Amino acid sequence: MTEHPAAASVSVGPCTQRRTVLAALPGIILLPGIASACGMTEPAEPPSTVQQTTEVQATSIPAADVPVGTAKQVKSGDATVIVAQPTQGEFVAYSARCTHQGGTVQVVRDLHLRCPLHGAEYDATDGSNTLAPAPRPLDVVPVTESNGQLTIG
Ligand code: FES
Repeated sequence: MTEHPAAASVSVGPCTQRRTVLAALPGIILLPGIASACGMTEPAEPPSTVQQTTEVQATSIPAADVPVGTAKQVKSGDATVIVAQPTQGEFVAYSARCTHQGGTVQVVRDLHLRCPLHGAEYDATDGSNTLAPAPRPLDVVPVTESNGQLTIG
């Protein structure tokens, strides 16, 4: 029997050989652990595109610190939060943790937010991701206003 010249030049590693042998046996199912031990990658789950809610340590700031049409970065415990007032008397807050890889989102101007790591952009009106690579909106942080004070978290 002669071997095809192209087949003779193909080099296969021990994992490929093992998978080939195992897959050829009747009744054998390749378990995920076996697959990953051989460097086979499982199909990656696509990142969620749904906005989520997160809790942070509560903090309070004067509502006057966030004029209408602006956003402000605030420390709340260990977390950094973006607080905004898109319309008169409507306050919203989001985690400043970028949904791409966790960079700290900055206020560029007004309600325009940007992550300095890879350039993802967000709208502080609703936290929506407006420019890739962010896969989803910023996480919502609860905020309430009472007697001119905002309670965040
Ligand atoms: S971590 Fe924010 S854009 Fe990548």
